[in-house]
Amino acid sequence: MYNFDFFNPTHIVFGKDRLNELDNLVPRDAKVLVLYGGGSVKKFGTLEKVINGLGNRQVIEFGGIEPNPQFTTLMKAVDIVKKENIDFLLAVGGGSVMDGTKFVALAAYYEGDNAAEILYSREKAAAINKAVPLGTVVTLPATGSEMNNGGVISYEHGKYGFGSKLVFPKFSVLDPTLTYTLPESQVANGVADTFVHVLEQYATFKAEGRFQDRTAEGILQTLIEIGRKTIDNPTDYDTRANLVWCATMALNGLIGAGVPQDWSTHMIGHELTAMFGIDHGKTLAIILPSIWNVMREQKKGKILQYAERVLGITEGDDDSRIDLAILRTREFFESLGIKTHLSEYGVTADKIDDIVNALDKHGMKALSETGAITLEVSRKILEGAM
Ligand code: NZQ
Ligand code: ZN
Repeated sequence: MYNFDFFNPTHIVFGKDRLNELDNLVPRDAKVLVLYGGGSVKKFGTLEKVINGLGNRQVIEFGGIEPNPQFTTLMKAVDIVKKENIDFLLAVGGGSVMDGTKFVALAAYYEGDNAAEILYSREKAAAINKAVPLGTVVTLPATGSEMNNGGVISYEHGKYGFGSKLVFPKFSVLDPTLTYTLPESQVANGVADTFVHVLEQYATFKAEGRFQDRTAEGILQTLIEIGRKTIDNPTDYDTRANLVWCATMALNGLIGAGVPQDWSTHMIGHELTAMFGIDHGKTLAIILPSIWNVMREQKKGKILQYAERVLGITEGDDDSRIDLAILRTREFFESLGIKTHLSEYGVTADKIDDIVNALDKHGMKALSETGAITLEVSRKILEGAM
């Protein structure tokens, strides 16, 4: 196991009717900016509950944060924060709203000319020494943004990750009932995103992280048990509660501490979202099976461990067990209603050059836990994903 720091200060407030407690969670004298997306929280009454929960505090609303949040939209919120002397941000929504809010929190204290530099330069993001404190109310279980210090923002034609220890939410309210109104496809996206977050921290090489491995395997098994069920029975509380907690625990630093990680599925997936508008969770279900096929030698030990411990595959030689593990994983995504081939999204093979060029432009030339996924290997992965 590698050396590591594990730091996670987010207070999780989990369960039914916990929005009632907002009054105790947000500082009493705060002037609050409530940020949300395209309107689902208005339509389904969550925003009203949040505003009521904030009591007599001064509150300003900022709606219209789009899925895959846009830099230019978020900068409008930064202007409001500065002009109105906002001192607490409350994100009400899914990953896009939470990530967007984290960006606003940092950009409000950015002293350079162009806050987009936070997205380009880790050093510049790390040099910011103050951020507006924030909390979240989660309406879509998927990204884990509610308990981590990262975000992904769309800027010009790309998607850029950023992080800072200043943007861990102070608290996150996880009320599974607020997610009942999600359309099937968004629940499926959330299951797939969570599943792949676990695999990006697991399917690398063996590193004696026995707790991390078994916790990861537990999350994967839970998702296989409940994935389809929670799509079919959206108001079954316990099933949905398990999805919500899995999503949070998959990307809050716990299972990735002290072990190698491989974020290639995400990095290639981000290009597919930026170029073709494919939902984040779906891009992962398209790319992961092909990565495993191409990188089967490098990932052999862990794919075989997953095959045995998660899927119960014990018969056959190594290659046939790996083939079966890839097939079963693809079938799992498809059981959620997610198509797993690029061609099924209308993307044709002649676009592969453009995708590889975008990876090149964004510096994604040596991906995976060892840096072995060069642009040429990414090309093979994309060909295999058609
Ligand atoms: O915008 P509204 O009207 O609210 O509708 C949203 C949106 O259209 C809708 N929705 C959310 N909650 C709902 C609901 N509809 C009905 N009922 C509810 N309760 O769902 C749609 C998608 O929302 P979005 O926030 O975009 O989805 P998700 O949570 O999957 O977030 C995706 C974003 O997170 C980033 C992705 O790159 C993408 O930009 N990620 C962030 C990560 C992180 N911070 O750690 C890690 C992830 O790997 C991911 O990259
Ligand atoms: Zn993800």
